[in-house]
Amino acid sequence: MTEAPPKIRLKNLHKRFGDKVVLNGLNLDVQEGESVVIMGGSGSGKSVSLKCLLGLLTPDGGDIQIDGKSIIGISEDDRDEINKKFGMLFQHAALFDSMTVLNNVTFGLTRGKGMSAEEAETIAYSKLEQVGLDESFAHRMPAELSGGQRKRVGLARAVALEPEIILFDEPTTGLDPVMGDIINELIVECTRDLGATTLTITHDMASSRIIADRIAMLHQGKIIWVGPRDKVDTSGDPRVDQFINGRTEGPIKMELRRL
Ligand SMILES: Nc1ncnc2c1ncn2[C@@H]1O[C@H](COP(=O)(O)OP(=O)(O)OP(=O)(O)O)[C@@H](O)[C@H]1O
Ligand SMILES: [Mg+2]
Repeated sequence: MTEAPPKIRLKNLHKRFGDKVVLNGLNLDVQEGESVVIMGGSGSGKSVSLKCLLGLLTPDGGDIQIDGKSIIGISEDDRDEINKKFGMLFQHAALFDSMTVLNNVTFGLTRGKGMSAEEAETIAYSKLEQVGLDESFAHRMPAELSGGQRKRVGLARAVALEPEIILFDEPTTGLDPVMGDIINELIVECTRDLGATTLTITHDMASSRIIADRIAMLHQGKIIWVGPRDKVDTSGDPRVDQFINGRTEGPIKMELRRL
């Protein structure tokens, strides 16, 4: 019996900028339907990893596979096809500022999926409702929303396209803890309903504990620990302990001092 390949495979990824080595043999598999969180300090290469996965950066070495197929060096047409599998919630939600909330959600459905405006609006209203925004929000502009409301629109927009894979970039950064929890619960709910595979980068441990099936720690260009979220407190790795407890003293600080 052959096992299904992982949905996402990052294999021995290397990336440097000039002399600065950012990714130095990063390995990570994400199984279909799984939610994996990558945590790591500022500048550890989290965003660079995500950009490699989205094809915005090309790794210097290693491979990225989706459903068992390499996506390094593929044609633009093939890349467009692959990108249809991805949904993304950007750090600042990155809504289209000149469009209403409703049109932010319908845009990808009409343009990307060729739906009629009517069909797209029906879906958009239902997704907005799912994230707790009633009809009164539909015709507001993004500038009229709070940070948490913007994130919710961003989430509605990402899940409306029913992507197979959703990438979350710091989904709770800049939100108060209550709104952070609401977003975390919505991420869990929306992705479970879709059966989507999700990869999230964050340094918010509270968020990781809610949304992750497995947590991976990125440090010095490699995944130094990966395991189920309930094992993160007993990893036995002093770098993981220091990070999750937010301690200033420990092996990570020592390395910073050497720089
Ligand atoms: N296009 C680029 N050119 C040169 N250096 C880059 C580029 N993109 C990222 N870097 C460097 O790569 C390193 C990792 O950056 P990255 O943005 O992945 O960090 P991060 O883990 O996402 O950090 P943060 O938590 O602060 O967002 C940093 O030292 C950064 O300066
Ligand atoms: Mg980043």
